[in-house]
Amino acid sequence: MDKILVLDFGGQYDMLIARRVRERGVYAEVVPFNKITTAEIVSRGYTGIIFTGGPNSVYEAGSPSFSKDILEIGVPILGICYGMQLMSYLAGGKVVNAAEGEYGKVNVTVSSTPLFKDVPKESIAWMSHRDYVAKAPEGFEVIATTDKCPTAAIGNAAKKLYGVQFHPEVTHTAFGGKMLENFLFEVCKCKQDWNMESFIESSVKKFRDKCAGKKVLLALSGGVDSSVAAALMHKAVGDDLICVFVDHGLLRKGEGDLVENTFKGKFGMNLVRVNAEDRFLKKLAGVVEPEKKRKIIGEEFIRVFEEQGRILGKVDYLCQGTIYPDVIESGKGDASTIKSHHNVGGLPSVIDFEEIVEPLRDLFKDEVRQVGLKLGLPPDLVWRQPFPGPGLAVRIIGEITKEKADLLREADAIFREEVKAAMKENAPNQYFAVLTDTRSVGVMGDARSYGYVLALRAVTTDDFMTADWTRIPYEALEKASNRITSEVRGINRVVYDVTSKPPATVEWE
Ligand code: XMP
Repeated sequence: MDKILVLDFGGQYDMLIARRVRERGVYAEVVPFNKITTAEIVSRGYTGIIFTGGPNSVYEAGSPSFSKDILEIGVPILGICYGMQLMSYLAGGKVVNAAEGEYGKVNVTVSSTPLFKDVPKESIAWMSHRDYVAKAPEGFEVIATTDKCPTAAIGNAAKKLYGVQFHPEVTHTAFGGKMLENFLFEVCKCKQDWNMESFIESSVKKFRDKCAGKKVLLALSGGVDSSVAAALMHKAVGDDLICVFVDHGLLRKGEGDLVENTFKGKFGMNLVRVNAEDRFLKKLAGVVEPEKKRKIIGEEFIRVFEEQGRILGKVDYLCQGTIYPDVIESGKGDASTIKSHHNVGGLPSVIDFEEIVEPLRDLFKDEVRQVGLKLGLPPDLVWRQPFPGPGLAVRIIGEITKEKADLLREADAIFREEVKAAMKENAPNQYFAVLTDTRSVGVMGDARSYGYVLALRAVTTDDFMTADWTRIPYEALEKASNRITSEVRGINRVVYDVTSKPPATVEWE
């Protein structure tokens, strides 16, 4: 398989670059500049290299750099922003600080070279820099300019080395995608051999060989990653995969059955569903403090798994749904790092196993979803919004009881149904109901009622670190409110949360 190395110099778009390449059918992986040597790059056989941007200045001591012999190994390189400056610097060009920076959209004029094939002479590009290449290195020519930047791109066609000061990976650069395609297909001559069918085929073969005669345990949460990992692993090892699904009684409406019907019913998997509602609710009785709820649920999960572990006896491998962003975020590309923030914290330490296997560790989330759909998982599962490990426990304010969990489950299902119907593919990134601990007076029929206040929450976000409240159409809110107050006995008032994060968080607890 052809593959592109995205050599990371600390830029904010390193993952985006890899995704842009993969979207074009070529495998790409991100490796930090200080985690790989030129010799390793040669031995891994990359078809091309992209140097990312970064916040430093190449001429400052201690700024991220690379051995200049990388320019001589005959592998095409595209330097972006800092990456272009570094390439110039290593090749003997001059990089200086400009009197004025260039930020945002600019007009770029390009000349005719393989990198700009089918790109108009003038187009919009997106810039974010203050340093620039004042003198291109020997053997390079200037192939693009802007009003403020005399060297918006440089190229050495003989050595297939190119640099662009602007960012082709962002959508604001009108022909950025075309430029990346030109680098991949005109310069590197890549084949388009990265697709999810071939990924499934090679993974199945790999894990079938690796796991022959072994028992593999997977903690299935019903979330996208563990579900897709289960489906893929099942295709590879069949009955040697044992999935344990703990239903703590605080799942959304129909969720436990969907998981069971899908994995046991449709796929015929070896699935152990542990119905543990009673024991979880018992442990949570009288607890109101959010972090205490989380801790109790986390610990109880471990107890349940310990018991299952004893029943199962020794397993050889533990399978986890770690995905590529987890790998990059937790270990900056260090292959030995394992996901540390999975929902059943502590599981590895209580079950005796030899090794962790992670069939999705090379995939981005959208690729994981594609694999899930290709393996036949239901779209409802594949497109599921994030759901916290402690489940509805952190959406029932105050003490948790079965009665409250049932109320919330019904109301939440109605809200999600109405939002989905009204907004379809534009649905918010996360939307759910929260059962507050407040009761209010109402009038129903001709009688006074005293019922719970339900809060509806919907957020729009890229990364869940910050989030805006979603402007859901009033009609959808109205319909959800009407249905909830008439269909869910015990709730007589519905409010909508109009707070962003910060200052609030997405969840109420
Ligand atoms: P907050 O409330 O911190 O939520 O703004 C950000 C995202 O994280 C999810 N979340 C959790 N996920 N265990 C999880 O697995 C938790 O304890 C937990 N708390 C919040 C939340 O649903 C949102 O997507």
